[in-house]
Amino acid sequence: MKILSIETSCDETAVSVIQASGNPENPKIKILGNALFSQAKLHEKFGGVYPNLAKREHAKNLPSLLERALSEAKLISQTKSPLNQTKKEEIEKELIREGDLSSNLIDLLNKVKKPKIDLIAVTQGPGLEPALWVGISMAKALASAWNVPIIPINHMEGHILSVLFNPRKESKLAFPALALLVSGGHTELILIKKPLSYKLLGKTRDDAVGEAYDKVARMMNLPYPGGPIIASLAENSRKSNQKNPWSFPRPMLHTKDFDFSFSGLKTSVLYAIKDQKLSKKQKELLSQEFEDAVTEVLIHKTEKALEKNPVHSLILGGGVIANNHIRNSFEKLVQKFPEVKLLLPTKELSTDNSVMIGVAGYVRTKSTKKPPKKKGVFSAQGNLHLSS
Ligand code: KG4
Ligand code: ZN
Repeated sequence: MKILSIETSCDETAVSVIQASGNPENPKIKILGNALFSQAKLHEKFGGVYPNLAKREHAKNLPSLLERALSEAKLISQTKSPLNQTKKEEIEKELIREGDLSSNLIDLLNKVKKPKIDLIAVTQGPGLEPALWVGISMAKALASAWNVPIIPINHMEGHILSVLFNPRKESKLAFPALALLVSGGHTELILIKKPLSYKLLGKTRDDAVGEAYDKVARMMNLPYPGGPIIASLAENSRKSNQKNPWSFPRPMLHTKDFDFSFSGLKTSVLYAIKDQKLSKKQKELLSQEFEDAVTEVLIHKTEKALEKNPVHSLILGGGVIANNHIRNSFEKLVQKFPEVKLLLPTKELSTDNSVMIGVAGYVRTKSTKKPPKKKGVFSAQGNLHLSS
């Protein structure tokens, strides 16, 4: 089946079309069209994501990203029959709160034929509610204009199921599975005994790992998002093999639960820097020590969770999983557990994207008996949790 998917939970605006078939635990997935715009540069001056700016940018860019994704998928053709008045009013009702999006989307719908898609999947939450609403409103408007079923998707389930698309590796999910999700807003260990059934084992009590990367980058006057920059500074430092003068704590390393805490680590970095102006070399060494501290905690807690919960798959997901050092450290960890297969998303699909939302749409549709509805009655949920 062909799925159109939309992601607008944070500062990435993304629309894609995938073709999916086969068993939901090991589907065959082909990306037919994928259009993504990262707003990171625009949010840089705020040192993080500014919700109203994110919303405005999503509304401005969605119609052209939709057009690009459909055209890459060769699903766009011009029509001579514009929307009739009733459809136009229905769509305007869905888009009433979305400003710019309304007229741009109606212009597009007036000029293109209904594409051959079977399902629309859209991120419902968690995320920034005003930002989520833009994607949801567009998804509902399209479902209504084209009479296509629509399915709301949990963004975190998208990160988990992003591992199902990995063209270079076999990526079959075997249950029970353990998932470690590390992104800008989440740090969670989740036990998945059977498909789509999630039990939270532990989570961060304060900052998420990605958030800590972003804040530490800001302390060193490095731009947002901090993850990729700190990662590359740390990599330089590892190559130079120099003795590291910095030393940071490994918070909650030996607690018996599966919770995390990263705000103390962040504060230690702040106190260590004080008002010093750091040289490039100092930034490299600090980045390495910070990344080593984070990695050690993630590895240790996951190892304990694997010892306590025998599983067949270890799934890693979320923006921080784009990090080479963290990926390599987990490759080493699973060598201690021969019965566990490590499933990683590609680096492109580790950070926010709409392909993973389409994949989750497919898995949900195939795994549950209730078919998705033609008209979605659901709202954005900024604090949406994964449930069984
Ligand atoms: O999953 P994601 O794209 O968005 C959320 O759902 O939050 O994750 C974004 C986070 C940011 O905090 C960013 O700094 C971090 O992922 N990140 C990284 C790397 N690439 C992105 N952290 C460490 N190393 C990276 N290479
Ligand atoms: Zn995310």
